[in-house]
Amino acid sequence: MSENVPGSAGHPPQPDPDVVAQPVAYDPATGLPIDPSQMPAGSAAAPAAPVADPASVPVAADPAAAPVAADPAAAPVAGDPAAAPVAADPAAAPVTADPAVAPVTADPAVAPAADSPSPELIPADQVAPDLGMGDAVSTSIDRSEMDDALRARVIVAGIDLGTTYSAIAYMDEHGKPVIIPNSDNERITPSVILFEEDEAIVGRIAKQSAVSDPENCVQFIKRDMGSNDWEKEFFAKRYTPELLSSLILKRLVQDASSYLGQSIKYVVITVPAYFGDTERKATRDAGEVAGLTVLEVLNEPTAAALAYGLDNLDKEQTVMVYDLGGGTFDVTVMEIKGGSINVLATDGEVQLGGKDWDDELINWISEEFHKEHGIDPRDDMDSYQALRDTAENAKIALSKKPKARMLCQCQGKTLKREITLEKFEDVTRMLLSQTETYLPIVLEKSKCSWDSVDSILLVGGSTRMPAVKEMLRRVSGIEPDDTINPDECVAFGAAIYATLLKLKGVAGIDLAGDEYIPESVAATVRKLDVVNVTSHSLGIAAKIAGVPKNCIMISEQSPLPAKKSMRFGTEADNQTKVEVQVLEGEAESPDECVQIGTCIISDLPPRPCGSPIEVTFHYDAEGRINVTAKDVGSNREVTTEIKRDGGMNDEEKEAEKQAIAEVEVS
Ligand SMILES: Nc1ncnc2c1ncn2[C@@H]1O[C@H](COP(=O)(O)OP(=O)(O)OP(=O)(O)O)[C@@H](O)[C@H]1O
Ligand SMILES: [Mg+2]
Repeated sequence: MSENVPGSAGHPPQPDPDVVAQPVAYDPATGLPIDPSQMPAGSAAAPAAPVADPASVPVAADPAAAPVAADPAAAPVAGDPAAAPVAADPAAAPVTADPAVAPVTADPAVAPAADSPSPELIPADQVAPDLGMGDAVSTSIDRSEMDDALRARVIVAGIDLGTTYSAIAYMDEHGKPVIIPNSDNERITPSVILFEEDEAIVGRIAKQSAVSDPENCVQFIKRDMGSNDWEKEFFAKRYTPELLSSLILKRLVQDASSYLGQSIKYVVITVPAYFGDTERKATRDAGEVAGLTVLEVLNEPTAAALAYGLDNLDKEQTVMVYDLGGGTFDVTVMEIKGGSINVLATDGEVQLGGKDWDDELINWISEEFHKEHGIDPRDDMDSYQALRDTAENAKIALSKKPKARMLCQCQGKTLKREITLEKFEDVTRMLLSQTETYLPIVLEKSKCSWDSVDSILLVGGSTRMPAVKEMLRRVSGIEPDDTINPDECVAFGAAIYATLLKLKGVAGIDLAGDEYIPESVAATVRKLDVVNVTSHSLGIAAKIAGVPKNCIMISEQSPLPAKKSMRFGTEADNQTKVEVQVLEGEAESPDECVQIGTCIISDLPPRPCGSPIEVTFHYDAEGRINVTAKDVGSNREVTTEIKRDGGMNDEEKEAEKQAIAEVEVS
């Protein structure tokens, strides 16, 4: 962003269409830029003015009250461009007002998020019939039993798009969430793609080929979702993580559609709770590029809780979901009460999962190999790929047995080693400890203690490692609940949620009267309610004492949906354009946050620096963000343009959709 300021000495500055300045933080109580000395570090400081009701923002009702806005001519700095930019030194600028005026909303905690739905409670005596989730975990669909009438219905599906394995499920005509197997008759599909000249092979064959044909294979794509600079080229076509993910989605839906004998269009796709806005948007884009209508992007632990909760509606409980998959980790505390799932807090890492345990085993055997043969097999692409399989197999074996054998081959040399469970746990101890550090953090954020946690749900294939359970038992004193299938429960929950959206009727899609599940189940599903929280803080870059800071507007762990407004001031006289940089993260410096987009207000009428600009953030229930910015001086909504820095725009998406439709996927 440019930080130009307009004007030349001695002349009133003229509007300059090219001026783009950063807003300064603005005190909603006074209509003035905030005194920097009042801004605490990191600034959550920041004046997260509650804004459910704009009238409650003191100056909003009366723009004339904003001294700089009412009469630009009266602005003391108007004729002196040298003094113009309040942002450069607010203390020196007359409009910066009284330093004694503390931002009234300095504590975002006091700013309640607006729009939070109140969860609907279901009396215990009206709760669900037994949906047989216990059975569902091991139930596939018997296609021959499918009612022909079902084929006429719209089937909505839930997809767990995993780092290492993906799954698709739907609610069958008995109201049971069931996994739809792929064309290889597998319930989960490896999230691996092998490119051949004219087709993309997704799944088991691709995973096996990762060893023999690593150049044409790609895996762990989810780890790069939302990344702007990650691309891979296969057969002269460049693929972003979204495009690659769309191929995985295409295979899942294609197989499921042919299995059910009808095409699936509407889906819910799950994401780690700790995914930020960019990754969520990338996931949605991947679905759309695959030709799907993405009803919603749902948090994985919430999906797991839905699958669990549906069978446990009569219990009122606080549940911790410990979700360790193939590539991501998060831990979430939620209350489950009569059909309502209320997320209290969530935290985690998007780069921590089973793959890292595999990597440690690869490192261990590679070092053993190096000691023996003086060669590092990690330097050889083929050996490295082969070791990836060997390591994962050994890890899985060690969940059942005290020892496993590993074979490493490189440049004609061979090494066989036995690894004990003890040694495996030793070389991966740091990783498990890393997950452990999040437990007290999330408990604290959710204002819970171990005493108030009723159960710990194990989600994600990596929770099958015995050390995970042991650690949780030791730290919490609670025996973790492993009754739900850790690989499949997320897809089940997504299917339940997709059904809920269908039953409720989602925007633009009229599926009324299309229900095919038994009414008793539909009645239960309809009563489900989910309240999520934000996993990251949202703010904007604003200059405080001339220094760009992250002014947090919606703090992490706020219940969704949330809506807040805050006022900022223009940086220069006669500034014609304001560019609001939207940041995600808790760090004080904008550089350490993720810049998720910009919102530009242009064609501002001439007015002095410090003129109020009201920024409103609206975080919807799904975790999507809408930003609007208003020029308060003219008391009119100025057309805003929201430009996300990552991902595809609509035209690109349409073009890629055509391209992906032409790619043969098997
Ligand atoms: N018995 C087992 N013991 C140890 N690890 C296992 C076992 N079974 C599966 N895993 C590991 O679980 C991971 C896959 O789990 P899951 O399918 O839940 O993850 P994912 O959905 O691919 O990843 P994420 O949710 O992080 O995106 C892999 O790393 C796999 O090696
Ligand atoms: Mg997963």
